Formats: sequence, structure tokens, C-alpha cells
Amino acid sequence: MKTVPPLTVTAIPGAAPSSSPIPGEGDAGQGFRPLSDMEVRARADALIAEMTPEEKAGQITQYFDFLSVAEEAARVEAEMAAARAGSLLFVHDARELHRLQQTAVEKTRLKIPLLFGYDVIHGLRTIMPVPIALAASWDPKLAEQSQAVAAREARAVGIHWTFAPNVDIARDPRWGRMIEGAGEDPYLGSAMAAAQVRGFQGAGIGTPGTIIAGPKHFAGYGASIGGRDYDEVNLSDSELWNVYLPPFKAAVDAGAGNIMSAYMGLNGVPATGNHWLLTNVLRETWGFKGFIVTDAGSAHDLQTHEFASSLEDAGIRALIAGVDMEMAPPFGTSAFKTLPKSLAEGKVSVDAVDDAVRRVLEAKIRMGLFENPYVDLDEAERVLNDPQHRVVARVAAERSAVLLHNDGGVLPLNGAVLQSIAVIGPLADSARDTTGPWVFDQDDRETVTVLNGIRAKVGKGVRVDYSPGATMPARLHKSIFDSSPHKEVPRVQVDDDAEIRRSVELARTSDIAVLVLGEEQLMIGEQASRSSLDLPGRQQELLDAVLATGTPVVVLLMAARPLDLKGSKPAALMTIWYPGTQGGAAVANLLFGDVSPGGKLPFNWPRNIGQIPMPYAHLKTHQPRTAGERYWNEPSTPLYVFGHGLSYSTFTFSRLQTDKTRIAVGESITVSVDVSNAGEHEADEVVQLYIHQRYGTAARPVRELKGFERVTLAPGQTRTIRFKLQPHDLRYWAASTRSFVQDAAVFDVYVGNSSAASLAGTFEVH
Ligand code: BGC
Repeated sequence: MKTVPPLTVTAIPGAAPSSSPIPGEGDAGQGFRPLSDMEVRARADALIAEMTPEEKAGQITQYFDFLSVAEEAARVEAEMAAARAGSLLFVHDARELHRLQQTAVEKTRLKIPLLFGYDVIHGLRTIMPVPIALAASWDPKLAEQSQAVAAREARAVGIHWTFAPNVDIARDPRWGRMIEGAGEDPYLGSAMAAAQVRGFQGAGIGTPGTIIAGPKHFAGYGASIGGRDYDEVNLSDSELWNVYLPPFKAAVDAGAGNIMSAYMGLNGVPATGNHWLLTNVLRETWGFKGFIVTDAGSAHDLQTHEFASSLEDAGIRALIAGVDMEMAPPFGTSAFKTLPKSLAEGKVSVDAVDDAVRRVLEAKIRMGLFENPYVDLDEAERVLNDPQHRVVARVAAERSAVLLHNDGGVLPLNGAVLQSIAVIGPLADSARDTTGPWVFDQDDRETVTVLNGIRAKVGKGVRVDYSPGATMPARLHKSIFDSSPHKEVPRVQVDDDAEIRRSVELARTSDIAVLVLGEEQLMIGEQASRSSLDLPGRQQELLDAVLATGTPVVVLLMAARPLDLKGSKPAALMTIWYPGTQGGAAVANLLFGDVSPGGKLPFNWPRNIGQIPMPYAHLKTHQPRTAGERYWNEPSTPLYVFGHGLSYSTFTFSRLQTDKTRIAVGESITVSVDVSNAGEHEADEVVQLYIHQRYGTAARPVRELKGFERVTLAPGQTRTIRFKLQPHDLRYWAASTRSFVQDAAVFDVYVGNSSAASLAGTFEVH
């Protein structure tokens, strides 16, 4: 196998000094020349000409290989050895991947290598902050670098394809999978989608050290009714085109090699059997050239949805809708296994099957699997242990934390005067939770918890006491991730009454209390929706008891949904998400001011669960004067707005200008603004541009994000930031014309550091 090129990440501004510096500018894809479309097609067609119907159906079937379940592994391997499997998922051990590939390449008739897929969501061995955290960095370059590291590790062990990024817009925090996406906004979501695709795929499919990206779940999955995972989605065309589809379009434009169809029904038609979605929109309108995979078992499940009449019908419907590969149900029967019969009966055409087979073979050819199918085990070890990867993880965690509030500047902590810290909370010393969901090959021993990060930072001179504070309650229903074939995760059990008393005592006798509260990683993610935003267990009681001591309290939220602290006001509140392998080290750097927080919320943070949904980009509708009074019992405004996040400095905005006052439909306009660091710390600010169209073919949201840039400024420094608003930024899909339109209208522009930015200007489009 070719040697993976060294990691070349560009320097990340604002990064804390590291013992092993981040290498300078480079290009992992240097010298990479993709194969021509013609050559790839000719090679695929030559293989197709040799294949039997069974081999074709197998080539477009992907099986879970849960090695820990011997019977299932044997069944899958038998299929594979008989050339009736084109791809396997979930194997991530380099030796196993090597062994399985040897069987495919050396023992099967046509010697077609397997394509190995896996959920490399936010790292393989080096765990990055969870995807919503990367979005909260408002730094697409950072997201790209993080996923480039993930790809490099994955490719080194023999994985070729990731089921990521998740680009589902999420506007309902009850939905657990909001952790995997970029939050509520289509513009931020599109930037993060494209950046992650670039990170995974490098200069294009087949770049050494990269893997195929598979944006998911096409489409609308984040809008499941009631936030209940897998439940139906009913979205208007306007919401689809303007909100839910743009991140997919951005991922396709960035060259994503794969797309995964969603589990649920979209407006009554299951996404996996939805010809309009998969073929009319994705292939025909957007020109997607890669292959489409189903979500796990979702072709098979077209029967379960009461859409297909039989397994055979399910296979036919999925194929005809546009699916190229079926991810077979774990432990279940594949629908595509029935395709040879349907072919023989003339129910599907040879062309339809061959098109799917061709797309899968083309992916293998482009990845270079026919030339280099194997893993270099020594190289894999070296890549997995690359210290540079840990640096990227730490910087990513530093840049994604969001400081929500900081009374009287309690943060940063002053290490010179502090003598004692009480670190409290069930998540303060949990390595497994620090890395978050969707990780299976992480190294818990090397993971830096918040407690360990603080201890390492302050050294022996400061007393650090720790109490877990309260036990996390168990889930009512088991998660798919805490039962076989996944590892059971041990839960810390304490006597809550005694531990809360002890926490209070520690806080009372310390200079500062740092509470790490939130949700366990099993409480967020797939099958982890929730009907409450409260702190689970007795954490709220713990928080209030510690607050009552009068010791200044810093709350670090380890969570990926907005939680409801019931009005409790710690001196400082910072969301650290699930910060990954280096999370504790990053958090310590943030707490002590080695680096300033600079992340921003990728969603509106509601006051409580009753306000959901509450997107910032809502319409003005009737009586906007009372928009904040829609509930008689409390303000109908969010607690923290989309785009909000503090730093250790303050920034001012001035001189908002447009280069023209009037443009014609189809022309661009440039908006500029000066941003100045008016405080005493070097820090980052995310300059955000919002527009509002005053009238048009349809009513438009009060504000829509249309540009952002994260900048690092020294105290007293000013920079002019320019945003180019292009015709596509002013276009939208209108239900009245059932098409995209760009109106001649007056637009407001707002620039500042959140969606509540007050600096405003206008321009006209004629
Ligand atoms: C999830 C997908 C995931 C797949 C394979 C499904 O349950 O919805 O996002 O990629 O499993 O693990």
C-alpha cells in the first residue's frame, strides 16, 4: 500500500501554543490526479459484463459485520466469500479489515475488493469534538481539518468510506441526533457540510489518506414529529428547499461521493423509496454523480412502513427510486437479495441494476482499491498515534466552546491567586462521556477529562477536590449503543444525598466551584430523543445547593442540546459540548485564559421545552410588536439567541457600508464593516451578516444568516471585513410560484456578533 502522506494542516489562528506545533500550510492532495470519467466507466463496464445477476445484487449490498456476534459474522462472511457482498460496515480493526479484504480479492471469482464503510463521525482513534461543536466554532476550516484527521486515521486502518457528515438541519432539541449536525441554520449548515466533505475527501475521491464522504440522511430527518427519532416528517416544499435541502446541495457541490437516504417517511413517502427525492432532486436537478446508500435496513423497511407489499417489492421500489446500494438490516434479510428473481421475472430492468452496480464499482476504482486493496499495519499504528492529531483535537475543542455568560468577568480564572478549586459533577471525570456518542475505537485512557485537565494545568500549588455530585439516572429504554454488540458502559453510582452534601462542603471551602453538568453520551444521539430539557437526575438540586454556598460557580455544560437550568444563574456558563480526546486540556486552557472562548451558538436556546420550535429565522407575521409576548406566562423569546457567544474581550462594530445602494436582479453587492477589539485580551469574534427582505413573492424571515467570518484580534486592533452577497444569496424558493425566485425589493442588512446584531443598513434590488 502507498504510504499515507504526512498530515498537513494549516495553522489555526488563535490556537494556544502547543508543545508540538501545528505544521504550516500544505496540501494533502498535492500531485493527486483523479482518473478520467471515461476510464473509470470503461473499467466498471468490463467487470459488469462478467457478472452474474447474483454477483450484481451482492455488489450493491452492504452487510454489518459485527465480529463479536459469531453467528452473524459467519453468515456475512459466507456471503462475502461467495461474492454476494460488495461492502461491509462496522469493521474497524486494521487486521480484520486486511483479512476480509484478502478473502474478497484472493478467493472470489472476479477478485473485486470490498468497500469498507464505517461511522467515522468525529474521529476514529483521536476523537474530535462532536459535529455540533465543530459547527459552533463557526470555523469551516477547523471542521475540514478535524475531518481530515479522522479520514487519515480511518484510511490508514483500511476504511474507505464514512457515513458522514450528518447535514440534517435540526430545529427541535428533543431530537437526539441534533448532536451530529450543524444546528438550525441552512447557511451555517451548508458551510459546515461542504467543509467536512472537503476534509474527508481531500482533493477528490482517491486522494491518498482520505475516504469517501456520505452526507446523510436525505432528507428532512431532523424534522421528525415531536423530535422522536425515526418518526414521520411533514415538511412544506418551502421549508424543504429553503431550509432542509441546502446543506445537501452544498455537500453535493463539494463533490461528496455518496449520499445516504433517510429512514423516515417524508410527507408520507418513505425517503428510501422516494423517487422524487433521490432521482428528480438529487440526480436530475443537482447532477449528483456518486452512489446512494440506504440507511440501515431502510430498503427492507419499505414493507415495515406499509409502502411496499413484500420484500421483493421493497427491493424493486428502492432501486427504482434511485438507491444504488442497500445497507442491509443488521441480523435481517436484505431486500436486494431478491433482485435476481425480479430480474428474471422482468420486474426490474438489467439497466437499472447495472447503473447501480456501475456506481459502486466506480467508487472502488476511484479509491484505487483494485491496485491497493490492503492495509499496511505498521503505517496504521503510526498514523493512529500521530501526536499532531491530538493537537488538532485540542484546538478544535478550544475553538468550539461557547461562553454563554460571564458575570463580572469571573472567567478567566486567575491562576496566580487561586488556591483551591472544587470540581464537581457526574461528567467531570468521565472519559467515556467526554468523547461523546458515535465513537467505538477511542482510547479512554488517553482521554483528558475536565478534572484531569484542570489538575494538569494548576499543578501542585492549587488544591483541587473532586466530587461526582450526583448519579446519572439510567435510561428508561436501553440504547442500541449500550447493549451487545457494543460495549456496556459502566455508570458511576453514588449515594446522592451524601455526595450533594460533600459537594456543598467542597464548594464552601474552595475559592471557586467548577461544575460539569449535562447529559451522558448515551442520552444524546441516535435513539436518544428526550421529552425534557432538564438536567437529568439530581443535577439541578446539586447546582442550586452549590450556588447557595456563595462561592463563585462556573458551570460547564457537557451537552449537545440546549438545557434548561430553571433560571439558576452561575457566575459563568460555558457549553463545552462533548469535547473529545483532548477535551479536558482544552477546557483548562479556556478556564485559565490561555485561550479565549470564541464559539457561537448554532441554534436558538429556548427558555424551556414548551417554546420548541423557536428558530431565529422566523417570519414576521401578524402583530410583530407583540412577538415577544406570544405566551402570557413568559417572554416568547429565546434565552440565548442564535449566533451568541462571549469571549474574554469585547468587540465593537462600526462603518457598515455597501459598495452600492442599488443593484439589479442578478448582480452582487459587497457589504463591509469594521470590527475592533475594545477589550484587553486577544480574542476571536465571529462577524455575522444577516439580511431581511422587506417584501416579495413570498414573505421572508426577519433575519437570515448570509455571511460570517471568525477573526482573531489583538487588543485595540481593527479589521475591515467584507462580505459579497451574490444573487444566489438573495434567491429563495417561493410557494406562490413553486420555483426559485429573486425579487426586486428592499433589503435590510445587519452586521454584528449574533443574530440580534443592531448595526443596520439597507440596499435595493431593482
Ligand atoms: C444510522 C446511520 C448510520 C447507520 C450505520 C443507522 O442506524 O441512522 O446514521 O450511519 O446506522 O451505523
